[in-house]
Amino acid sequence: MRASNLMILTLMAAATAYGAPSTQVAWTPQTLQFVKSGKAEHGKELAQTCNGCHAAADNPAPSLEGQLATYLYRQLQDFKAGSRKDPVMSALSSSLSDQDMADLAAWYAGQEAFAGTGGVSDPTGIAGRGDPTRMEPPCAVCHSGSGAGEKVDTPRLSGQKTGYLEKTLTDYKAGTRTNDVYHRMRLIAGKLNDKEIKQLADYYSKLR
Ligand code: HEC
Ligand code: HEC
Repeated sequence: MRASNLMILTLMAAATAYGAPSTQVAWTPQTLQFVKSGKAEHGKELAQTCNGCHAAADNPAPSLEGQLATYLYRQLQDFKAGSRKDPVMSALSSSLSDQDMADLAAWYAGQEAFAGTGGVSDPTGIAGRGDPTRMEPPCAVCHSGSGAGEKVDTPRLSGQKTGYLEKTLTDYKAGTRTNDVYHRMRLIAGKLNDKEIKQLADYYSKLR
């Protein structure tokens, strides 16, 4: 067999091993443009049904203000398609149209970002340096040094609720949150122990 054929077969086998794609959303220029043109005023109206959970500090639902629009849009699509599962969000997203999702994303992305208290350091060292002994990349290479997130859809972490960060990292580790492209966050969270998850959740929730 020719080497190139063998390579294609190996790639196909790797893709099958990963099973169903983690998301149905592909970032084509059209989709990016569609999200960018979301109507924030309509999103604000729709957001009234969301804020009871998301804007309440004592509710486990994550903060959405200042989050990347592309990230919000894709998570909503993923809940609706069943690629990400949550009893509340799976039900709620089913009645949202593509336009509603773009409008909600535009509204929340335009709000002042949630922010931590600041003055905090990371006891694990993993956020800034990673851990080469277990091939763990620094969180900062993707989420940025300030934890503000990056294009296209790497989410903001700084200022996010501690309990939510801990829950969602634990979900990645347990393999119950599966909509991350290329298994990236499942692989990364899978190498963290429970104490490090707690410490990183605490660090990012306080970061400014
Ligand atoms: C009854 C409470 C509740 C309501 C109302 C609600 N949500 Fe949620 N939402 C949650 C919870 C809880 C999660 C976290 C799910 C998990 O742990 O994976 C979540 C997650 C999300 C996420 C993922 C955020 C992230 O950082 O990954 C988005 C986006 C979202 N909700 C948008 C909305 C929008 C838009 C509305 C209104 C149309 C809404 N939610 C209404 C409880 C709620
Ligand atoms: C290779 C790039 C990369 C690295 C390194 C990385 N992340 Fe992520 N992270 C992502 C992407 C992309 C997402 C969005 C997942 C998706 O596709 O739904 C994400 C999602 C998350 C979320 C979910 C946020 C939310 O609102 O639900 C948390 C929490 C998180 N990462 C924490 C970390 C921590 C802690 C580290 C370091 C130990 C880390 N990440 C390292 C790319 C990365």
